[in-house]
Amino acid sequence: MFSSETYKERRERLTEQIKSGILFFPGNNETPMNYPANTYHFRQDSSFLYYFGLDQSNLAGLIDVDKNESIIFGNDRDIDDVVWMGYETPLKERSEKVGVTKTKPFSELKTYLQSALASGRKVHFLPQYKHDIIIEFQEWLGINAKYVNKYSSIELTKAVIAQRSVKSEEEVEEIEKALEISYLMNKTAMKMSRPGMIEREVFGAIEGIALAKGSGVSFPIIFSIHGETLHNHNHNNVMKDGDLLVLDSGAESLLHYASDITRSFPVSGKFTEKQKNIYNIVLKSQLEAIEMIKPGIKYREVHLHSAKVIAKGLKELGLMKGNVDDAVANGAHALFFPHGLGHMLGLDVHDLEGLGEAFVGYDEDTKRSDQFGLAYLRLAKTLQPGFVLTVEPGIYFIPQLIDIWKGENKHADFINYDEVDKYRDFGGIRIEDDVLLTENSSKVLGKPIPKSVDEVEKACNS
Ligand code: GLY
Ligand code: MN
Ligand code: MN
Repeated sequence: MFSSETYKERRERLTEQIKSGILFFPGNNETPMNYPANTYHFRQDSSFLYYFGLDQSNLAGLIDVDKNESIIFGNDRDIDDVVWMGYETPLKERSEKVGVTKTKPFSELKTYLQSALASGRKVHFLPQYKHDIIIEFQEWLGINAKYVNKYSSIELTKAVIAQRSVKSEEEVEEIEKALEISYLMNKTAMKMSRPGMIEREVFGAIEGIALAKGSGVSFPIIFSIHGETLHNHNHNNVMKDGDLLVLDSGAESLLHYASDITRSFPVSGKFTEKQKNIYNIVLKSQLEAIEMIKPGIKYREVHLHSAKVIAKGLKELGLMKGNVDDAVANGAHALFFPHGLGHMLGLDVHDLEGLGEAFVGYDEDTKRSDQFGLAYLRLAKTLQPGFVLTVEPGIYFIPQLIDIWKGENKHADFINYDEVDKYRDFGGIRIEDDVLLTENSSKVLGKPIPKSVDEVEKACNS
């Protein structure tokens, strides 16, 4: 974990934003897989980690703004727990490491919260996403599970988003540690993939790297010869000569900061001319987007620029036609690039999304579009120094979507459907890097992972 000063300072800065009441941060519990004692890999809640640092289950953190004190609720392991799971440092000692001197047994949490409510105090909590915790709110605060998120505190949510969005130097270092793991995962996959192998063989090997070097993957690995399916979690295909692979993966550092990298590469180790042409359009779109990123620009503007690069490139190949600006304004490019350019990155791979995309990616003067494609943009608002975000344009040929659009003659002024039909079995290409906003500019984080056609082919054949 970071030093106790880091956690103390984070809590102090938060209480400067919220003038009174209690700030309540439940930690996560173990999640049963198929019976209670057989659990999934434990993942602590990211806001709990951010303010209270402790990476164990069955804890809750509380900041009493009026009394200016923090408390951690939890229990020490009893002898049965010790026999089965081992000794754990007592809570009091663990809490001191994150600058919290007051601890209480978990059973006192309910009484504490109920007496706060009884004396008319406000208990602020964040939007919740984990079902078992949501059910606990009935017990803790008397809120029916169905309505818990109706009562979450917008004031706290906005303050936490503002604070967690701006990364400190030590947080950026953690993201770079996760990127070090990503480097190994990507290089390994490029080198290992061969015609005749099943995707699962490579998928397993790189998930193993994430586990061996850090806290595991930051989201389920996407690795497929069907890269046209944006979040493809099927790994059962046999890779064939001529297929293109999309690998979208990320690791967590030991402190749970995420990386999120996509590379696309040929199974055979050599791009065909057709693949190279599409690849270079995506690459140009990504590089120009990265070039534009600086404080003060709206990410929607960067997204629209990358869409224009894609539309222009596809026009040069004969797949699109007409005026590029008009094509993008009308959303015609979304047949090939149906998702957003990127999202925030931090303790969560889609950082802070659990607190509501409306607050994280949008602001008062940036409203979500309802146009197909643009509506999926997770981050549209004005960028600030300290943000870390992903830049991940792509071009995909989704046969079912092509059929629907063609059937409706949709955007026929901008799309050459006869030409598009020749790419029906192409698959998809996405290229993704993680970028830090500096005071006046931006920089790509991590050691460069092969990205140009030459670099990728070389890594595949190394
Ligand atoms: N989790 C997939 C992506 O956002 O890149
Ligand atoms: Mn990704
Ligand atoms: Mn991403």
